[in-house]
Amino acid sequence: VGRLAELPAIVNAVVAAVAGRPVRQPEAAARPPIAAAPPRDADLVGRHVVVTAGGTREPIDPVRYIGNRSTGRMGVAIAEAALDRGAIVTLLAADVSVALPESRARVLRVETTGELRGALLETLFGGPGAPHAARFDALVMAAAVADFAPARPAERKLPRGEGLTLELEPTPDLLAEIVLVARGLDSAGEPTRGPVSPTPLLVGFAAETGTLERAADKLRAKGVDLLVANDVAEPGSGFGTDTNRVVILAPAGGRDELPLLTKREVAERLLDRIAALLDERDAA
Ligand code: CTP
Repeated sequence: VGRLAELPAIVNAVVAAVAGRPVRQPEAAARPPIAAAPPRDADLVGRHVVVTAGGTREPIDPVRYIGNRSTGRMGVAIAEAALDRGAIVTLLAADVSVALPESRARVLRVETTGELRGALLETLFGGPGAPHAARFDALVMAAAVADFAPARPAERKLPRGEGLTLELEPTPDLLAEIVLVARGLDSAGEPTRGPVSPTPLLVGFAAETGTLERAADKLRAKGVDLLVANDVAEPGSGFGTDTNRVVILAPAGGRDELPLLTKREVAERLLDRIAALLDERDAA
């Protein structure tokens, strides 16, 4: 009474209670990964795949920022899988908490949404303006781009004082802008020049909570070729886990509901689609 039992006694009691029954973790996230990723063919040799990963940060003052829970795991898994399949990979990494494949990929670090926008336009089209050539074959926007930024970041550290009210404004939608540039459209969606060539493949992510109902609208609104939707509130999916359960949506109405998989295997399944679509593009 009042004292924890010795560890061997606890272990013996647990073993006796569990007996021969298989133990199943109640939390999906705590279970071992469902399926390891079998190696794929080098079907992306010569392709330039651009991947964004991690969460952008918006400064409040020189010390504080608004950020999000993204760790960059999903984006880095895509970059690594693409490298293993022979692609030339540029990884635009915002705030990440995993190791980056720096020896094999061209890695550019960014902090804010504005910096990510600049790095994207430079990498994809050689800078802002009206490009005609695409310098990439596929873009995968796995980054968790901040949706709001302080309207007027302070130049000096704000004193604690008696409180703080921040005015936030929405950030520009980078993916929507890239789709317009790539398709030769102006901001109203009207064609102003020919689309860039070769036609790049544009892939978005959609982080939802509770339901994936909005994903089909996002696919249409963003005008992307594929949209990878996941419920980040579901155990085993979303931020900081090694697994993810996603649905891959295509404009023609295709809806590929994948089971709970390692992020690496989700990356491989997505790249299966990307490699096949790029081969179709070239055949056409
Ligand atoms: N994205 C972007 N620029 C932003 C916000 C998001 O390019 N300012 C990209 C993300 O990288 C992702 C896709 O758009 O590939 C969808 O992001 P998500 O946050 O799910 O959607 P939003 O467009 O931000 O819509 P909402 O916040 O209303 O869910």
